[in-house]
Order: sequence, then C-alpha cells, then structure tokens
Amino acid sequence: MSREFEFAQLLRAYRKGILSEKAFEEEMTRLEGGACGGFIAMGKTYASERDAIVAYLQRVRNGEAAGARALEQWAQVCKTDCMRSGLRTIAEREAYHVRVIDRKLNDLGARCEPAADPEIDRFVSMQSDPNISDLDKLRRITSSFANADEVVKPIYEFVDLIKQDLDAKEMLALWAEDEYSSIKWFLHACAALGGAAQSPADSRHEAMASAQTH
Ligand SMILES: [Fe+2]
Repeated sequence: MSREFEFAQLLRAYRKGILSEKAFEEEMTRLEGGACGGFIAMGKTYASERDAIVAYLQRVRNGEAAGARALEQWAQVCKTDCMRSGLRTIAEREAYHVRVIDRKLNDLGARCEPAADPEIDRFVSMQSDPNISDLDKLRRITSSFANADEVVKPIYEFVDLIKQDLDAKEMLALWAEDEYSSIKWFLHACAALGGAAQSPADSRHEAMASAQTH
C-alpha cells in the first residue's frame, strides 16, 4: 500500500468517525516516522519496510540453499537408517523455502545473487562427508543453540515489525514454524544418538537410540 493511499484511507476513516482522533494521530505519527526516520530492523535503518524485507530475504536465502544442499548430500551418506527420511524432509523444506523466497523477491522487483561464503562451503562439505559420523554432524548443527525457541525468536521479532506487506509477514511466520520444527528434530536426533542429555520421558529418543544399535 502506498503512503499516499494509506494517508487517504486514514483520513476517510477519521472523517467517518471510524477512527478516534487519538488513533488517527498515532497512525499519522507512524506514517510520518516511516517517511522521515526509515524502517529500523536488524540493527540498521532501511529507507522503507520493503527494502528491509528484501535485505532480510537476501540474507537468509543463500543459507537456506546451503542447508538444502548439505542435508540432501548427508541423506545420501547417512548411516543411521531411521534418520534418512528426516534429513530428506528437512532438505525439501530448505529447498522450497528458497523457491518461495525467490518468488517473493521477484514480486518485490529484487533478486538474490548466490554469494561465495567459505564458511557455508565448509559446512556443506562437512555434512556431505561420509567419513564424519552422523552424531558429529548433528553436534555441529546443534552446537550453536540451546533450544528451538532461541533460533526462531529473531524471525518473529522481524515478523512483528512488518506492518504493510502482510504477504511477507505471513510467509516469514510460516518459515519460522518450519525452522522450529526442523531444529526440534535435530535436537531430538542428537539426544537420541547420545549427543546430549536425553529426557527419559521421550520414547522416540529411546526408539531411535535402540535402532542405532541394531
Ligand atoms: Fe532453514
């Protein structure tokens, strides 16, 4: 929605008595803030909400693509039978995230060039290495966080900031749910293979752990 259009809508609502004077003033302040102060997200000020969304999508896009590649290749060399389809499932999620992000960037008149990132390349080659154990690969993934909530919190913080592009807002909220599910599974698999303290109440951990030994 353009700023002019939003302003006209607000004015109409105010004149019709749908918006109180106080609500009208608050909305006007928000619109003016957008015009003068830009959109603040991820510790930076962007010229607009649209620019912040483009930057955000460009930032996560290549990581998702690397995740898809790494997990697909790991599934091919995975030695833990009960993990293979879980890895394939998450690889598919990462791959469709990339496709949806590319379509949204296209809708916004932007695109994302694949960027060289040596750290991502190292991650993909480690996850694809048949000589590294599945447990070490799980440890590598789960070493950087304690729980799934911590990982998706910044995504939801960004989602909360989005006020105009509701399409992007819904897309990112769904993406966060997928990431949450994937991370929970990695933590579960890591615990099941003995990589972390496991909850005795979780029978899935025990089933996966015993499948390991057969
Ligand atoms: Fe992801």
